[in-house]
Amino acid sequence: MLINQTIANEISKVSEIAAYLWQREWAERNAGNISVNLTGLQNVSSKDKENKKYIECLMPEEASDMLLFITGTGERLRELVNLPEKVACIISIDHQAKGYHIVWGGIDNPGILPTSEFISHLLIHLFNTSQNNTHRCVLHTHPIELIALSHHPELGHNEAKLNKALWSMLPEIRVFIPKGICIAPYELPGSLALAKHTTEGLNNHSIVLWSKHGALATGKDALEAFDFIDVANKAAKIYLKCLQAGFIPEGMSEEQMKGLEIFL
Ligand code: 13P
Ligand code: ZN
Repeated sequence: MLINQTIANEISKVSEIAAYLWQREWAERNAGNISVNLTGLQNVSSKDKENKKYIECLMPEEASDMLLFITGTGERLRELVNLPEKVACIISIDHQAKGYHIVWGGIDNPGILPTSEFISHLLIHLFNTSQNNTHRCVLHTHPIELIALSHHPELGHNEAKLNKALWSMLPEIRVFIPKGICIAPYELPGSLALAKHTTEGLNNHSIVLWSKHGALATGKDALEAFDFIDVANKAAKIYLKCLQAGFIPEGMSEEQMKGLEIFL
């Protein structure tokens, strides 16, 4: 399938973000995955599906006719920078939601299959669609300091304390992560249980921290999804720097935090 300019633009934003993930050491080997809901941005004809790989996969019926850009399982995200058409694909889900055609991507990579976290990505896109939410991108990555904090014996298990600690590290964190972080308990990567915790968490949070694994956020595009995790990880980094320097950070006061509410 030949992609139109709108889709090409979304993919180039994914490539831009992939470079940042690699620079930050959040994307070792095949770590992380990205998808963009392209439904409605381009029509897929039966000709586009001709001779294309078809994968059977039972999905919720609301997934009928969805079009998704999604990274491949086991692929190096750093290759998204120059070769998105190799390490990612576009899938066109059939009308019965019983399978999908790979209509684009997987060039020189015939074994390509969507990420093992496909179920999380799909359920989130379905949730966002049902909410008329403008978020088209889902980003999962392995941000070092957020993961480290998820191992913290206290903050790693107490969402209220974690958010209070991170919000109070600098004003922008409170303003740009207004709904805070949800801690999803450790679950097997790729599992339905992890997907369910994640969709529930995104109901009223900006980021879901997958305990002892990684983080996930959504945004209108890859840039916005990345910003959420980038800002939150900055707070985690400052918090840990203070601990490394041998003191528990004071954090901004309740009054200082209250003063920020005019920006919310
Ligand atoms: P995939 O290579 O299947 O996308 O898995 C990477 C990952 O980070 C799993 O959580
Ligand atoms: Zn992961």
